[in-house]
Amino acid sequence: MKPPPPPMFYLLFLLSATVTSAATEPTTPKMSTASPTPAPTSSPNSPTTKAPSSSLLDPKQIETLRSLHIPTTRDPCVQPSPRNATICDNYKPLRQLISLHLSNCSSDLFLSFNALKSLSSLRSLSFTDCHVSPVRFPADLSLSLTSFSCIRSLRRLSGVWLSRFVNLTVLTVSYTPVSTSGVYVILGNMHKLKTLAISHANLTGSISSHLHPNLIHIDLSDNNLKGKIPASLTLLEDLELLNLSSNGLNGEIPTDFGNLISLKNLSLASNALSGSIPESMSAIPGLVHVDLSNNQLNGTVPKFLAGLKGLKALNLENNGLHGVLPFNASFIKRLAVFKVGGNSNLCYNHSVLSSKLKLGVARCDKHGLPMSPPPSKDSSSDSESDYTGDAEADKTNNKDNHHGPSKVVLGFAIGISSIVFLIIFLILIAKCCR
Ligand SMILES: *[C@@H]1O[C@H](CO)[C@@H](O)[C@H](O)[C@H]1NC(C)=O
Ligand SMILES: *[C@@H]1O[C@H](CO)[C@@H](O)[C@H](O)[C@H]1NC(C)=O
Ligand SMILES: *[C@@H]1O[C@H](CO)[C@@H](O)[C@H](O)[C@H]1NC(C)=O
Ligand SMILES: *[C@@H]1O[C@H](CO)[C@@H](O)[C@H](O)[C@H]1NC(C)=O
Ligand SMILES: *[C@@H]1O[C@H](CO)[C@@H](O)[C@H](O)[C@H]1NC(C)=O
Ligand SMILES: *[C@@H]1O[C@H](CO)[C@@H](O)[C@H](O)[C@H]1NC(C)=O
Ligand SMILES: *[C@@H]1O[C@H](CO)[C@@H](O)[C@H](O)[C@H]1NC(C)=O
Ligand SMILES: *[C@@H]1O[C@H](CO)[C@@H](O)[C@H](O)[C@H]1NC(C)=O
Ligand SMILES: *[C@@H]1O[C@H](CO)[C@@H](O)[C@H](O)[C@H]1NC(C)=O
Repeated sequence: MKPPPPPMFYLLFLLSATVTSAATEPTTPKMSTASPTPAPTSSPNSPTTKAPSSSLLDPKQIETLRSLHIPTTRDPCVQPSPRNATICDNYKPLRQLISLHLSNCSSDLFLSFNALKSLSSLRSLSFTDCHVSPVRFPADLSLSLTSFSCIRSLRRLSGVWLSRFVNLTVLTVSYTPVSTSGVYVILGNMHKLKTLAISHANLTGSISSHLHPNLIHIDLSDNNLKGKIPASLTLLEDLELLNLSSNGLNGEIPTDFGNLISLKNLSLASNALSGSIPESMSAIPGLVHVDLSNNQLNGTVPKFLAGLKGLKALNLENNGLHGVLPFNASFIKRLAVFKVGGNSNLCYNHSVLSSKLKLGVARCDKHGLPMSPPPSKDSSSDSESDYTGDAEADKTNNKDNHHGPSKVVLGFAIGISSIVFLIIFLILIAKCCR
C-alpha cells in the first residue's frame, strides 16, 4: 500500500515547489529594484548640477582631456571618474589633475607635446592598452611625475626616454619593448625609485651594479638580461621583492645574498645560474616565496630552509641538486608549493618521508644516494612502489585492484536484492487481493 503514493507525492511536491518559487521570484526583484531606484534617481541630479560650480578644473587641462578622448561632459574631478581616468587636487581657484590613466585607447589617438605641456601638475601617469606613439615629454612633466606605468602601451620605449623621469618612486613597464644598452641607462638619475618593474620588455644588457638603496621591489622578469647577479645587489637592505626570472643570467648567486634581510619574495627561476644555494640566506628571516627552479644549481639542499617559519612556496625543480632532502613531512605539508623534481641526484629518506608524498625524486639508499632512476610521472611511481616492495605499497596496490571489481559486485548485489524485493512485493499484493 505504501509504495504507490511516492510518485504522486513527489509530483505534488515538485509542483508546489515550482509554484512557490514562481510566486516568490517576482516579489523579491520588485523589492530589490524598488528600494535602490529612488536613491539613484534623486542623487545623480544633485551632483551633476552642483559639481561644475563647486570645482573648476583648469580649462587648459579640460581641453587636453578632450584631445585625449576623455569625456568631460561630467566633471572629471568627481570620483570615481569615468574609467578611473582622472584624479584632481583640491587647490583653488582652479583644480588641477594629479593623476591620469589612459586605457584601451582608440587607434586615432595622438599624444602631442603641446597638449602634454598643460599637464605638469601630474604626479602619476599610466597607460594600459594604449598603443599611441610615444612623444618627447615637456621637461616640467618629466620632472613632476612620481609614478609612471606603461602596460601593453606606447609601442616601444627607449631607456633614455625613461631616464628623464628622475623623480619617480614607481616605474612599471610591462609587455612593452624597451630598447637600451643596460638597466643603468634608465636608473642613472632615479635616486628616489622604490619600485622598479620592467618585465616582459625584451630588456637587454646586464643588471646595473649601481642600484639605489631605496629600492623595495625589483621585478625584471622575462627579459633578455645577461651576465651575473652583481654582488652589490646584496646591499639593498630594504629590498622585499626580487624577481629576475626568465632571463639569461649566469654565474653563481652572490655569497652574501643573505644581506638582503628584508627579502620576502625571491625568484631567480629560469636562468643559467650555477653553483650552490648560498648558506648566508639562512639570515633572511621573512622569506615567503622562493623560486630557484630551472637553473643549473648544484650542491645539496640547505637545511636552513626547513627553519624558515614564514615560507609558503619553495620551488627548486630542474636543477642539479644532490643528496638527501633535509625536510620532514610536517614541513612539506605546511607549504602551498613544494617542488624538487628534476634533480636527478636528489633523494628522500624513506624513514622520514613517505613515498605517498610523490615528491618526484627517488628514495635514498643507506648511503644517501638515489636508489632508482628519478621517477617520471605515473608509470614510474608504480615502478618505484614495485621496487620498494614494502607492505604499504602492496596494500595501496591491492586497494586499487579492488576498486574495479567491487563496483561490479555492488551492481550485482543491488540487482539481485531488487529482484528479491519485487518478488516479495508481488507476493504481498497477491495476498492482499485475496
Ligand atoms: C575604479 O577604481 C576603483 C578603486 O580602485 C575600482 O573599485 C573600480 O572598479 C574602478 N572602476 C573602473 C571603471 O575601472
Ligand atoms: C576597448 O574599446 C573598444 C572600442 O573602442 C571596445 O569595443 C572594447 O570593449 C573596450 N575594451 C575594454 C576592455 O574596455
Ligand atoms: C624633481 O627633480 C628635479 C631635478 O632633480 C628637482 O629640481 C625638483 O624639485 C624635483 N621635484 C619636483 C616635484 O619636480
Ligand atoms: C627582442 O630583442 C631581440 C634582440 O635582442 C629582437 O631580435 C627581437 O625582435 C625583440 N622582440 C621584440 C618583441 O621586440
Ligand atoms: C610574491 O610571489 C607570489 C607568487 O608569485 C605572489 O602570489 C605574491 O603576490 C607576491 N607578493 C608580492 C608582494 O609581490
Ligand atoms: C616573477 O615573475 C614571473 C613572471 O613575470 C611571475 O610569473 C612570478 O609569479 C614572479 N614570482 C615572484 C616570486 O614574484
Ligand atoms: C657546482 O658548480 C660549480 C660552478 O659551475 C662548479 O665549479 C662546481 O665544481 C660544481 N660542484 C659540483 C659538486 O658539481
Ligand atoms: C620537522 O622539521 C622542523 C624543522 O626542522 C622541526 O621544527 C619539527 O619539529 C619537525 N617535525 C617533526 C614531526 O619531526
Ligand atoms: C634516514 O633517517 C634515519 C632516521 O632519522 C637515519 O637514522 C638515517 O641515517 C637516515 N638515512 C640517510 C641515508 O640519511
